[in-house]
Amino acid sequence: MFIPLAKLTDLYDGFQQAVMVAGKSHLLLQADGQVYLVENRCPHMDAPLLHGAIVGSTLRCKAHGIAFSLITGGAEGPLAGSLDCLVFVDLVYEGDRLGVDIPSR
Ligand code: FES
Repeated sequence: MFIPLAKLTDLYDGFQQAVMVAGKSHLLLQADGQVYLVENRCPHMDAPLLHGAIVGSTLRCKAHGIAFSLITGGAEGPLAGSLDCLVFVDLVYEGDRLGVDIPSR
């Protein structure tokens, strides 16, 4: 079942919005022309990722400043390789909207 999250025309580089998917908070964001949906939970100490700084294809958590690659999901800098990666959810495009495909029960 397709669950729409945003209209394509509403997105732009730097866009961030918290959305609920399968009962969990997720962050929908656009960086460097790509749209991502990640769990809204930093792998470091579980702070929300919403309103982190987007620079190129990285998202820097505002809690302690660790940057995560939106390409690999991994932490960058001194903690690279020692933290879990961001958890991505696949996006689905349908007409002028994007969202997620949740299996029907
Ligand atoms: S909780 Fe995100 S950097 Fe610490």
